[in-house]
Amino acid sequence: MSNVSVTKDAGGPESAPSDLVVLNNVNKHFGALHVLQDIDLTIASGEVVVVIGPSGSGKSTLCRTINRLETIDSGHIAIDEKPLPEEGKELAQLRADVGMVFQSFNLFAHKTVLENVMLGQLKVRRTPKQEAQDKAQALLDRVGVANQAHKYPAQLSGGQQQRVAIARALAMDPKVMLFDEPTSALDPEMINEVLEVMQQLARDGMTMVVVTHEMGFARSAANRVVFMSDGRIVEEAAPEQFFNNPRSDRAKDFLSKILQH
Ligand SMILES: Nc1ncnc2c1ncn2[C@@H]1O[C@H](COP(=O)(O)OP(=O)(O)OP(=O)(O)O)[C@@H](O)[C@H]1O
Ligand SMILES: [Mg+2]
Repeated sequence: MSNVSVTKDAGGPESAPSDLVVLNNVNKHFGALHVLQDIDLTIASGEVVVVIGPSGSGKSTLCRTINRLETIDSGHIAIDEKPLPEEGKELAQLRADVGMVFQSFNLFAHKTVLENVMLGQLKVRRTPKQEAQDKAQALLDRVGVANQAHKYPAQLSGGQQQRVAIARALAMDPKVMLFDEPTSALDPEMINEVLEVMQQLARDGMTMVVVTHEMGFARSAANRVVFMSDGRIVEEAAPEQFFNNPRSDRAKDFLSKILQH
């Protein structure tokens, strides 16, 4: 630890100690499609970054490279100053450090809600059973579904299942949480209950990357908006600046379309 205090924006292109996720010149192709093009992105510890952009612009692929669900063709990605591991135990550890919440909740259907939140703790973190159970119960309480602990996922609403999925990711004590359109499969009346859990996480200081079309969430919770188009980061700005005064034509065009809804 250095005794020099470093503020979030004190760093230049070199990574500063508070930089938790660093992507340097990342490129990826799917066949002929150049899906990520020269991506440079640095996320500080405690920062909430909302990623928006048209369908097919590479937002999900970007998220998936950060926990190495997708490999990259060139460039570097580091989490907490460590390059992403290739495989094996270290990769499992990385996946545990990077919590991911998808549009579809991916809970284990044949396990109870409580067991779903205990499983990773038991298998990956090797937490003793009672401790894992206590922690799972506390996390279910934190996301507002403590009374659903002994039900099976199919017995819960979509909003409740997504909150369980968030609790399950949090059970691993992740360094960063990635959310890929966590509310887009939900009925409208269930969106807010999930967004509120995410708002609370943000206030608690969790480092978050959130792909979402929920512009209200972006305005109120994000420190920064990253706008992607055609595999590139076209624009990055504080939410106020981005929404009120987008610089690029592509961002203006995108905002005019989504704000009509
Ligand atoms: N496994 C894959 N194989 C081939 N092409 C892929 C694969 N995954 C994604 N793509 C393509 O890469 C591009 C970017 O996809 P991605 O899912 O990252 O976009 P997105 O910004 O998340 O879009 P959406 O808003 O629709 O979720 C798209 O053209 C998509 O068809
Ligand atoms: Mg996507």
